[in-house]
Amino acid sequence: MVKYIRGALLQGFEVDRDSSVPIYRQIETFLRRLILDGTLQSSRKLPSTRELASELGVSRITVKSVYEQLIAEGYLDARTGSGTFVTKGLNLETAPKIEFPTKRCNTPDIIIPDQAVPILSSKASVRHGETAPFRPGVPGLDFFPVKIWMKYLLEATQKGTRQNLSYGNIVGNEALRVSIANHLMEARGMQVDPSEIVITSGAQQAFVLIAFVLLNRGDTVWYENPGHIAGRDVMQIMGANVAPVPIDDEGIDLHFAAQKHPKPKVIFTTPSHQQPLGITMSLARRLDLLKYARENNTYIIEDDYDSEFRYRGRPLPALSALDSERRVFYVGTFSKSMFAAMRLGYIVVPPGLSEAFAQAKTLLGQSSSAVVEQAMSDFMDDGRFNEHIRKTRRIYRERRDVLFECLSKDCASFITPQPTDAGMHMLAWLSPNSDDRAAHHALLKRGIESLPLSVYSLTFSDPPALVLGFSGANENRIPGLVRRISQTLGK
Ligand SMILES: Cc1ncc(COP(=O)(O)O)c(C=O)c1O
Repeated sequence: MVKYIRGALLQGFEVDRDSSVPIYRQIETFLRRLILDGTLQSSRKLPSTRELASELGVSRITVKSVYEQLIAEGYLDARTGSGTFVTKGLNLETAPKIEFPTKRCNTPDIIIPDQAVPILSSKASVRHGETAPFRPGVPGLDFFPVKIWMKYLLEATQKGTRQNLSYGNIVGNEALRVSIANHLMEARGMQVDPSEIVITSGAQQAFVLIAFVLLNRGDTVWYENPGHIAGRDVMQIMGANVAPVPIDDEGIDLHFAAQKHPKPKVIFTTPSHQQPLGITMSLARRLDLLKYARENNTYIIEDDYDSEFRYRGRPLPALSALDSERRVFYVGTFSKSMFAAMRLGYIVVPPGLSEAFAQAKTLLGQSSSAVVEQAMSDFMDDGRFNEHIRKTRRIYRERRDVLFECLSKDCASFITPQPTDAGMHMLAWLSPNSDDRAAHHALLKRGIESLPLSVYSLTFSDPPALVLGFSGANENRIPGLVRRISQTLGK
C-alpha cells in the first residue's frame, strides 16, 4: 500500500474547481511535473486510482484517465497485478527544462507570453455554451426553420461530394459568392464582383484577416467608443494604436477624430446600426467619412452585422455602396440573420486583394465548411433566406415592442428604455448614479444576461445603461423576465 499521498506526493496540490483548466489536466500536469523534477523517481510506485481519487475528492474515472494519458506519454508504466510505476530508466537529464510558475494560477504549466497577455485580458465575453435571455446579438432560434435547413444541408452533403467534402475553395464556394453578390445588390445597393468576396467563418475572422493583411504595428485605428469589443481587441493585439472616437447623433465624430488622431490607417465603423448605441450614420457623415479616407489614404472597415433588421422605412444603402474609390472593406455575417453556429461571414475586399486574403486564410485557419457554404448558397438562391429575414423582422419587431412596453410599465422608476427602429437590442438607461456592471451581475445571478454599456467603452464616459437583446427572447416570456428585472434592480 502506498501511504505517502497527502504527506509528500500531494503536498501543495489541490484541485481548483473554479479553474477553466479541466481537473484531469490539473492532475496530469502536477504528476508530470513531479516526475520531471525528480520528486517521483524512476520505478516509484504510484497510489492506486482508488486511493488517489479519494484523496483528491475526484472520480476514479478521472484518475484512471490521467494514468492512461501518462502511460501513453511514457511517464508511467502499468504492471498487471502490481500497480502503476514511474517508468524505469527515464533519462531525466535530457528532459526539457520546464519552468513552473511559483504562484498557483489557472494554467499551471504555461508561462503566459507577452503577446498573449492582451488576448487573455480582453473584455470580449467568452461563450461557454447556452446563453441566457436578453443576451445581445442572439438570434431567435426558437422559430428557425430547422427542417428546411436540414434539407439544404443534406443536399449539399450529397451534391458534388468530392468538392464539398474537401477543404473547398479557400476564398469560399463560387456559387455562394455569386448568391451574396446578388443579395448585396438587392439589399444593400452594392455592385460587387463575386471574385472580390472572401468567405470567412464569421465577422470576427474577417477582422482578424483584415488586421493581418492591412496593419503595421503602431498604425492608428479609429474605433467607435463605445464599440464592438472583440473587433477592437483584435486591432490592439495586432499592435495598432486604437484611438477611441465618440459618437454623436450622426455617427462617428469625424471632426473630433480628425483633430485628435489625424491620418489613421483604418477606421472601424458600424454605420447601419452603431454597436451598441444604435445610431444610423447620416448620409452627410458617410460622404464626409469617405472623402476623409480618400484624402488621407485611410481604409474603412464597415461592420454591417445586423442591417437586415429595420422596423421603419427601408434601410439606407451600405456605406460601401457610396465608395467609388474602393477604400471600404465591407464585412457581413450570417450569425445574426441565420444562426451563429453556421460560422459564415464574408468580406468584400478592394480589387486585387483576394489573393492576399486567400494566403492569410490558409495560414490562419481554413475555417468555414464547404458543405455549409453550398447549402447557404442554395438557401439564398431559392428565396428561403429573404423569406426567413421577412419573418424574422416581423417577430423581432413584436419582441422589441413587448420589451419596450414592459420596461416602461414595470421598471419606469429606475430604467428608461430607448426606442429603437433597428437591430436586435435595446438600450435601457439606468439612474445616473447607478453602476451598470453591478446591475449586470445582479441580473446574471437571476438568469438574465444583459451587458453593461460601460464594457463596450475604452473610456468610461457614457451614463450607465444595460444593453438588452430582445431578438432571442420569446415574446411570451418577456413580461415575466421584465418582472424579474424589476424585482432584482427595483429594490
Ligand atoms: C457588432 C458585431 N460585429 C461582429 C460580430 C461578430 O459576429 P460573428 O463572428 O459571429 O460573425 C458581432 C457578434 O456578436 C457583433 O456584435
